[in-house]
Amino acid sequence: MNEKPIGVFDSGLGGLTVLSAIAEQLPQENLIYFGDTARVPYGSKSAETVIRYSLEILDFLLLKEVKTIVVACNTASSHALTALREKSPVPVIGVVEPGVQALLREAGTQEKAAVIATRSTVRSGSYSRTLSATGASLSLVERACPLLVPLVEEGMKDKKVTEMVLREYLDEIDREGIRHVILGCTHYPLLKPAIRRLYPHFELIDSSREIARTLEESLAANQLSGNPGHQGKIDLYFSDITDNLPDMEKLFMGRSIDSIEKVSMGW
Ligand code: DGL
Repeated sequence: MNEKPIGVFDSGLGGLTVLSAIAEQLPQENLIYFGDTARVPYGSKSAETVIRYSLEILDFLLLKEVKTIVVACNTASSHALTALREKSPVPVIGVVEPGVQALLREAGTQEKAAVIATRSTVRSGSYSRTLSATGASLSLVERACPLLVPLVEEGMKDKKVTEMVLREYLDEIDREGIRHVILGCTHYPLLKPAIRRLYPHFELIDSSREIARTLEESLAANQLSGNPGHQGKIDLYFSDITDNLPDMEKLFMGRSIDSIEKVSMGW
């Protein structure tokens, strides 16, 4: 039994979709979430900057004595996973590999699939690289969808404008006959209903549940599972507390949390 918390981090609030899935799968675990709201978005930033930010967050989480770290942000997972693993004394789990595993399970005999993500994630080629490392013959179309994060954050996920933007990004994927689409960004699970309305034949791969499962396996393998029979605590930390935080929190996470704190990181 290990009561230490699991650290989850993201560029901002989007990673709360991953935190929700973890809290659902592992309700007994104590969870600490760090959202870098002062420096979001990461999706338009260079690899070098994303790595630097991620390593700074690692230091913060290690001070909180986390037993494992989940990089909920696709952009940070794409660029910084190797650097984080090199520096971290505790296991670090990214979101790209679970997303690819979920795709392989779902895609069966398909020849082509797609991933939609931020520009920085697509530029990194992380999904294609991870997929080809599995030896699978499936080919992957990677599509950057930079307008989707702001639309979700502005509460416009069910508006006409979002529909138009989705068509702009996804029509080509549809025309190519692709049916399996990985939602390669923290915000995109919230767009599932809108995408399903437009493309009911798409199979949307939401990696958040797969990440929670990967985490559960990793905890068990490292003998780090904790607190059987208890209700875990959830503490949220942000590098900035903005006016829209309560609305956003509601948008990304249905359940109540134990504390919210702004941290000054000396950046
Ligand atoms: N969390 C980011 C991701 O999953 C999306 C938001 C951002 O650009 O920082 O890639």
